Amino acid sequence: MSARPRVVLVGPPGSGKSTVAHALAGRWHLAQRDTDTDVEAVAGKPVADIFLEDGEPRFRELEHEAVRVALVEHDGVLALGGGAVLHAATQDALAEYRAGGGVVVFLDVSLKHAAPRVGFNQSRPLLLGNPRARWQALMTERRPVYERVASVVVSTDGITPAQVAERIEHAL
Ligand code: S3P
Repeated sequence: MSARPRVVLVGPPGSGKSTVAHALAGRWHLAQRDTDTDVEAVAGKPVADIFLEDGEPRFRELEHEAVRVALVEHDGVLALGGGAVLHAATQDALAEYRAGGGVVVFLDVSLKHAAPRVGFNQSRPLLLGNPRARWQALMTERRPVYERVASVVVSTDGITPAQVAERIEHAL
């Protein structure tokens, strides 16, 4: 492992991206960043309000820009929003990041383990209505993309964020 690993975490809602980013950053004494938080800072409102007031296309635009900036600026552990990989230009930016020595980790998770983390609150607009069915549909559609953009796949089912962080470290 290099002295300053640069790692991007991708995966569906409930895969534990932010928690694992926190664990990795603590382990490696690196900064942690989250593109959802960056988008909220730029928009001045929560992700759910951006979806509601401005629509998903506007959110994706802000998200793509947040990822682009973070990949250039951030030298630590970066968690992407679950749908960030859908943007073709983001897929290209991740390929470039990997070519430059960065590692992209897909945190794989089953519905059973994602559901309790996702919960049934209002903060994830794409899962409103029937969260379990929506999550499953979204994962089926996105799995090939997560696998394509990632250099490492780590299954998070049944293990703690600290154990996921350990697995990632071993995979580097
Ligand atoms: C989304 C995931 C969310 C957030 C937004 C859209 C998605 O992030 O970016 O609600 O499309 O999967 P998390 O993956 O952190 O929940």
